[in-house]
Amino acid sequence: MSRTVIHGGLVVTASDEIHADVLIEGGRIVALAAHGTDAATSWSADRRIDATGMYVLPGGVDAHTHMEMPFGGTYAADTFETGTRAAAWGGTTTIVDFAIQTMGRSLREGLDTWHAKADGRCAVDYGFHMILSDVNESSLKEMDRLVAEGVTSFKLFMAYPGVFYSDDGRILRAMQRASGNGGLVMMHAENGIAIDVLVEQALAEGRTDPRYHGDVRKVALEAEATHRAVQLARVAGAPLYVVHVSADEAVDEIAAARHKGLPVFGETCPQYLFLSTDNLAEPGFEGAKYVCSTPLRPREHQEVLWRGLRNNELQVVSTDHCPFCFSGQKEMGRGDFSKIPNGMPGVEHRMDLLHQAVVDGHLSRRRWVEIACASPARMFGLYPKKGTIAPGADADVVIYDPGAEQTISAETHHMAVDYSAYEGRRVTGQVRTVLSRGVPVIEDRAYVGHAGHGTYLPRGTCQYL
Ligand code: URP
Ligand code: ZN
Ligand code: ZN
Repeated sequence: MSRTVIHGGLVVTASDEIHADVLIEGGRIVALAAHGTDAATSWSADRRIDATGMYVLPGGVDAHTHMEMPFGGTYAADTFETGTRAAAWGGTTTIVDFAIQTMGRSLREGLDTWHAKADGRCAVDYGFHMILSDVNESSLKEMDRLVAEGVTSFKLFMAYPGVFYSDDGRILRAMQRASGNGGLVMMHAENGIAIDVLVEQALAEGRTDPRYHGDVRKVALEAEATHRAVQLARVAGAPLYVVHVSADEAVDEIAAARHKGLPVFGETCPQYLFLSTDNLAEPGFEGAKYVCSTPLRPREHQEVLWRGLRNNELQVVSTDHCPFCFSGQKEMGRGDFSKIPNGMPGVEHRMDLLHQAVVDGHLSRRRWVEIACASPARMFGLYPKKGTIAPGADADVVIYDPGAEQTISAETHHMAVDYSAYEGRRVTGQVRTVLSRGVPVIEDRAYVGHAGHGTYLPRGTCQYL
């Protein structure tokens, strides 16, 4: 069994910061020992990685990606191969992507399709959530089987009528089923029926530019849907995870539910923490680069999101990585913002942007690791295999240089998309080396991984319940 020692670094987990060496054997972490101790110096190894001056972090867990997602008449530009490679470059060693049930088809067919897309192509490990587009007797029964085999979370949409939308009755039924089988309902909380009225009115009045995407998807309609989702989950006796929370009033709804002791959780994404409606209003058609749903909000919302992350009103930061090229894809919506495919690239820069938040004083180092690694792993039944550095955990380890400076750009990123939402942004901190189950994927900022290294992860149920 090959042995690797990472020495000289500061091991940062959600709970501790320890000056310790890490011993890896056969793809797993087997021991930590304080620098210079007899235990640490006695370890023999096939490979030694010098992490002096570096952080030694658990690999990032991005619990919300959409590789090759069919959406808005096109497909998200990253394949499982390019997207997981980009994830690795950014220190993310696990993704949980969304398999989609097509209307009129079974969950099984959707899941099989997503397995076929990912199998043998991923650079890092991956699991699946299931998008429920068609809640009926048969798909409800299938939910039980999926939970038993490791697909333990189900996304439902209060938005996108005619595409993924479920009405309240269907949502309630799915939640009732989840309350019995241990599944976690993930909710896209926006009132899509009301939004579609506002879209129609905006277009009829000639308000067609990308910025109107933000105007019609109102804060009140995210807050109202979040409130309704909480009440439906409460009636069903089910836990609820609200995805891509962007509005201050939606955070308030989640906080109020948690204050009542309800098992309600919230996720936000870097785009809501770092970007705003100013980006949607960029001149020409540039704003299309920032069209996603829920939409970017006015800058004032950011402070509420940071506060929510600090005080655990929000538990997870995922990317909602759903990249569409500006050229040929975002351009489909010139003259009609409702035709711009919804989604933004981000899987590569989550760890770095959140480290910048540490530098800027929004988060502590341990909270950074918690919201980006440990909490998503716990939320989606992967902990402590993923999300921490401890004996027994998979050796998914990031050697992170906290002093390195970099400029984010489409010229240098590894996602298969022709723009960066953070073009020109300077950040402090950069991934240097990444191990996935003990195997180097990034080594001193060179990609040494390969498609097919990443394996499928059947998951347990939510570990916060
Ligand atoms: O705009 C977004 N978020 N696109 C991906 C699909 C979703 O709703 O998560
Ligand atoms: Zn969504
Ligand atoms: Zn999404």
